[in-house]
Amino acid sequence: MVLPIVDDTPAVAPQQGRRSSYALRVSLLSACQLDCRYCRPGSVTTPSTQAAWLSPGEHARLAPLLLSRGVRKVRFTGGEPTLRKDLVDVVAAWASAGARELALTTNGLRLPSSLPALVAAGLRAVTVHLDTLQEARVAFVMGPGASVGEARQAMRAARDAGLRVKWNCVVQRGVNDDELGAMLDAAADDGVELRFIEQMNTGSAAGYVKETFVSGHDVVAGVGRLSSSTPRSLTRRHASDPAALWQVRRRNDTGARDVVFGLIASDTEPFCDACDRLRLSAEGRVRGCLYEPGGLPLGAALRGGANDAALGALLDAALDGKRSHHPLAPVLRQPFSMADVGG
Ligand code: GTP
Ligand code: 5AD
Repeated sequence: MVLPIVDDTPAVAPQQGRRSSYALRVSLLSACQLDCRYCRPGSVTTPSTQAAWLSPGEHARLAPLLLSRGVRKVRFTGGEPTLRKDLVDVVAAWASAGARELALTTNGLRLPSSLPALVAAGLRAVTVHLDTLQEARVAFVMGPGASVGEARQAMRAARDAGLRVKWNCVVQRGVNDDELGAMLDAAADDGVELRFIEQMNTGSAAGYVKETFVSGHDVVAGVGRLSSSTPRSLTRRHASDPAALWQVRRRNDTGARDVVFGLIASDTEPFCDACDRLRLSAEGRVRGCLYEPGGLPLGAALRGGANDAALGALLDAALDGKRSHHPLAPVLRQPFSMADVGG
């Protein structure tokens, strides 16, 4: 299946070439215990098997090659990375190679028990995904097994362990867009940074995304309506951040406070020009863009006995060839789930 062509920009995405530094997203597996309605892990591609996943030792071999080419931030993702029993060893492998900005994106369900070991291994930041504050809704939105209480507990535990904590919420029309104000209050109460995310139509749940899509513009308008005050745009923390920052005044019975939130509008306000992302899949395929099919087989080359010079040459080719594939560009894309590629 091929997604429909929706605009008339050039068929070949512009080449971005080398960046001065990179934010690397390392997917550790594609499986997840949850089943968010826009993501549907396993719905498009067959999950890779454990034997195919790069081991901590293989990560230790690849990490210096990537770090010496400008990788500054490393985010472990999936699927659900805490499902990997050797997650702490993978984090430690990157820390030993000199990576300092180590972060994890997780649904939080299995986080608290492994937090002390992850922090000791070098983890510095966590993003927890949670689409609703209502226990009665959460199974419908994120799949059986999802828990508001456990996700919030994971955020608080990470905060108390000294990590920087963000909260990701994908906004869905008629599903959770009545909760924007309540979520801002909860994030402020817990001292975490909430980001509202526009759904990306990756093809794994095209009908659902079309039906429930809310643009970033409408999210800001909704926040304003639910807060009875107009959100104010702030400067992005770094030019390459996907999240634009906004501030809004929230009032309650005891007074008012200004709450800062992030807005990630990948489709309606693409950030391809400033994108410094690089992706390493669970099996070690390296690619410059979420939407780029395949990528270069760094892991297979490693397992085939390639020396550091050969692995470095393959990586250089991936970096030189980095293209910006805006989600709406008419590239003939295979559908995928974020969980397959590393959300
Ligand atoms: P750091 O910059 O590492 O702190 O993380 P982040 O701000 O990128 O946050 P996170 O990893 O939680 O990603 C948040 C959202 O950004 C995802 O849900 C996607 O909607 C979007 N996103 C992530 N990676 C890409 C990408 O490569 N391209 C595009 N267009 N959007 C992305
Ligand atoms: N659109 C936007 N965000 C998505 N994520 C997964 N699938 C999608 C999608 N189709 C989110 C995850 C997580 C982040 C890394 O990506 O829920 O918060």
